[in-house]
Amino acid sequence: MIIRNGLIVTAHEEFVGDLAIADGKIACIGNVRDERAQVLDATGKLVLPGVIDMHTHIDHWGGSAKTDDDFFTGTRAAAFGGVTTVIDFAIQRPGETVQEAVRRRRSEADGKVCIDYSLHAHVTGADEETLRSVPAIIGDGYPSFKMFTTYKKAGFKIEDHDCLTLMRHIHDHGGLVMIHAENDSMCESLTETMLRADTAVPARYPDSRPPIAEAECISRMLLFAEYTGATIYIVHVSTRQGVELIRRAQKSGLNVIAETCPHYLLLHRDRYLEEDGYKYIMAPPLRDEEDAEALWQGIRDGVISVVSSDHCDYRLDKKVAGRRNFTQVSPGIHGTEWLLPLMYHFGVGGGKMTRQQLVRLLSHHPARIFGLPGKGNIAVGMDADLVLVDPSARHTITDSNHHMQADFSPYRGFELQGCPETVISRGEIVVQGGRFLGGRGRGRFVRRNPALRI
Ligand code: URP
Ligand code: ZN
Ligand code: ZN
Repeated sequence: MIIRNGLIVTAHEEFVGDLAIADGKIACIGNVRDERAQVLDATGKLVLPGVIDMHTHIDHWGGSAKTDDDFFTGTRAAAFGGVTTVIDFAIQRPGETVQEAVRRRRSEADGKVCIDYSLHAHVTGADEETLRSVPAIIGDGYPSFKMFTTYKKAGFKIEDHDCLTLMRHIHDHGGLVMIHAENDSMCESLTETMLRADTAVPARYPDSRPPIAEAECISRMLLFAEYTGATIYIVHVSTRQGVELIRRAQKSGLNVIAETCPHYLLLHRDRYLEEDGYKYIMAPPLRDEEDAEALWQGIRDGVISVVSSDHCDYRLDKKVAGRRNFTQVSPGIHGTEWLLPLMYHFGVGGGKMTRQQLVRLLSHHPARIFGLPGKGNIAVGMDADLVLVDPSARHTITDSNHHMQADFSPYRGFELQGCPETVISRGEIVVQGGRFLGGRGRGRFVRRNPALRI
């Protein structure tokens, strides 16, 4: 296949040219002629590396409900949005070892995924069995380990000392620690107080998980990172205070990597005041406009290296359970399909970043940080995971014009310019002109390497 005459955007340059694909890999870039090849005319289109959504919760049990997608519908929706690789989680269930959780998640994904995927391991305690299994898990191609500092009731939370022990241990074996940073005791106490006063309504939800809960936890994790020498990755940073703490830590030489998500950049806490404010129950909660500004600034100056979706796909019938009491729903919001369109429109279109920065945030950085071989950029020999974007195409988000399972959109009414038109996974067109051409189960598990520097 030859992709003819597109604006090829890599992590560090862009130019108009052709790109040839053979055996699922990028075979040649430049001015390519081959009469036998299938030609895709990309005149006027952008050719980007496929997006790596390194933070999804597909087919996920959230503590009180299961998401409505599975690895087929979840990865198909991702593909429609220009995502060609997802990294999901193997969240430990009570009584399950880390290796059992990984095996279970592999069996849930294999045969269903339609783009490539990997898994982050998840650890809840520093018991002998977990410590012993860490090198083997890394060796098997899962070099990143997630810890939740909250969600005690769901059984996901790690205690501080176990977190410290694991941070050192994982680092010593070449792994990367990912942290969901919220002070659980603050969030639980505030929630309990609201429950007792019968005020745990969506409008009060952000006050139950305030910025100080994120800031305190990030600063504790930075201290742990300094103490252990570990590189840590803070997921879904949502506050100005969080960005500032990480900025200072990076300046002082700590190896801390930060991620945020489109909803923290584009939606604010006033959403909880809407009649259907329960739709936005997610952790951490939506914040103020000034937090979003600080996050955009963090992206601009490189404090934040990755934007992911934190995709968690619940239908309204599950969300509505939180109408009078937000503790009745599992937190989370869907969004893998909108990750690229939103970041292209508001980031590049809004003059907040260049196209190459976009490629770094959504593809190149995740590939390097999470050790995905052959992915995340456009270069000869790399996987032909590509997305052709029509920069002039316009599209208004409604509650239903997407392929995720949720029957609503937090971005309803957003008018976007620039849409993924053709999506190619290892040389195969999986989405074209709004049609899914891929196959159930054609995606492959990607065995990852330890992180590279970005
Ligand atoms: O509310 C969220 N973010 N749900 C998914 C689980 C997590 O904390 O990332
Ligand atoms: Zn989280
Ligand atoms: Zn998450």
